[in-house]
Amino acid sequence: MVFLSTSYLASALSLFTAAQGVLTQVNNFGSNPAGIEMYIDVPNNVAANAPIIVALHGCHGSAQGYYQGNNLATVAKQRGAIMIYPSSTHDLLCWDCGTRRSLIRDGGGDPQSIVQMVQYIINRYNADASRVFVVGTSSGAMMGNVLAAVYPDVFAATSVYSGVAAGRMAVPDGVPPNPYDPCGLGHIIRSPQDWGNTVRGYNPGYTGSYPRMQIWHGTADTTVVYQNFIEDLKEWSNVHGVSFTRNVTNSPQSGYTQMIYGDGQRLTGYSARGVGHTVPVYVSQALNFFGL
Ligand SMILES: *[C@@H]1O[C@H](CO)[C@@H](O)[C@H](O)[C@H]1NC(C)=O
Repeated sequence: MVFLSTSYLASALSLFTAAQGVLTQVNNFGSNPAGIEMYIDVPNNVAANAPIIVALHGCHGSAQGYYQGNNLATVAKQRGAIMIYPSSTHDLLCWDCGTRRSLIRDGGGDPQSIVQMVQYIINRYNADASRVFVVGTSSGAMMGNVLAAVYPDVFAATSVYSGVAAGRMAVPDGVPPNPYDPCGLGHIIRSPQDWGNTVRGYNPGYTGSYPRMQIWHGTADTTVVYQNFIEDLKEWSNVHGVSFTRNVTNSPQSGYTQMIYGDGQRLTGYSARGVGHTVPVYVSQALNFFGL
């Protein structure tokens, strides 16, 4: 019995390893003020000027768990990308998307540590600083929005699932970040201009471009309610100066509606009818949006 279950486990493990491999931890990637962990998956014989994808897990998650949860890394590596999987060490294993540390440049929060990971990979592998992307789910999608807003010069595009607008989680100084209240049950309705001002306020005087945003959300999400998606679209439509153009129904699959802003290159939403929390990562839609 023991022998059987051990050999079963060994064969399951080797099958699994063949499919996706195991992440490698990187220590000493920078001062890491937030004290989070860095894991990577690098293509064999990685070329110079490789693109980079930062993949961010949700609350209660981990780098390894997110890595195993879909085939993003496998497909992205085939297209030459270096994968960075940060792993939270905070309470509930969420990302801090709400304190001032995270909502100013180099404020000592998770965004600064994540940008240090990106810089480390650019230096070590001579990677392409103009092709750094973010994929994130739930709390990871919230952090994707924050990274896009606080470090618009570092990131080129995001594909984010079931998150909230940058600034949505902001808490007053001295209040610890609380990932579930008011995030989970409620929402904050603001004008597009208000949201845009919030984003622009993180980089006063910045005149460069902002990351292109692909934003996904389920209509039946009871953890991060659907209105947060509407607010997220308002935010980036204002930042990018693009307005809603048209819907494409049943894209990429039945029940999903692709919401195109402008020509769809700078902002696209995907509304997933009847889908809860969490929308799965749509790997080919994400990579195509990134131009990979
Ligand atoms: C576009 O699709 C969204 C999501 O299904 C829907 O809420 C919105 O009303 C649609 N807009 C138009 C103009 O059809």
